[in-house]
Amino acid sequence: MLKYGIQGPDAVFAFGFLLILSGTRICLSPEYIILFLPLFVIGFLGGSLMIIESNSKFRERLRDFSLKRRDPKNNQKVLDVGTGRGLFAIELAHKGCSAYGIDIWSNQDLLGNSLGKVKKNMKRDGIEVDFRYGDIREIPFVDDFFDSVVCSYLVHNIHKPSEMRMAIKELGRVTKDGSKVLLADINPFLGPGWTKSVWKNELEKENFKDVEFNNFLLTSVIFTYVSKKEKKSEGFIGKSSCD
Ligand SMILES: C[S@@+](CC[C@H](N)C(=O)[O-])C[C@H]1O[C@@H](n2cnc3c(N)ncnc32)[C@H](O)[C@@H]1O
Repeated sequence: MLKYGIQGPDAVFAFGFLLILSGTRICLSPEYIILFLPLFVIGFLGGSLMIIESNSKFRERLRDFSLKRRDPKNNQKVLDVGTGRGLFAIELAHKGCSAYGIDIWSNQDLLGNSLGKVKKNMKRDGIEVDFRYGDIREIPFVDDFFDSVVCSYLVHNIHKPSEMRMAIKELGRVTKDGSKVLLADINPFLGPGWTKSVWKNELEKENFKDVEFNNFLLTSVIFTYVSKKEKKSEGFIGKSSCD
């Protein structure tokens, strides 16, 4: 459960705290039940939802469901954007891909989130992944470098529509014509607050095609392809974490 971390640890602790606090008050002073019962219910429902969605077993299932659809091939260069503790990147390396992972490794998003932790996971599994610092709004690779990109549970962190557009542009820039792109965690109440039709529109504006939405329990996943006319040179910029 902890290999790939618990996402949104602050929210998990907040709901847990609310549950314990209101539960204790109800036990100690039953006359205040009217006041504390709603808080107890919020803590219980919110906490349960977070425990289901935040734990890494749930995300591993989502990953396996998504990769079955994406069918990554041997030696393809695949980027995991917002890799965290390597949920997708490590599995892609196991499948024979040239796996890359970038992240800003924010601790608010994932428990124990760090470059050191993800490298430890990689070494424990005996595979090679190129992990390096990088922001989705400015991906540190040259144009047309990747055959495929995955991005799981990151987009809820990008609140400004202009920044989300910047991120979409970057995903299109670093991928080759025909590349498969996967965005997991599409929710109209989080991130830029876009509905499915707005997502489709925004992606199509940047030359993504066949935008398809799939639901996996409470999470919506976008599968799409990059469509561009010209190809440019290969290579990368920025310092490799292995240098
Ligand atoms: C909830 S975690 C998900 C990690 C991993 N993809 C998974 O599913 O286990 C979200 C990740 O996105 C990263 N992140 C947030 N904003 C980012 C940004 N602007 N660019 C790159 N990574 C970002 C966080 O540091 C965190 O590791």
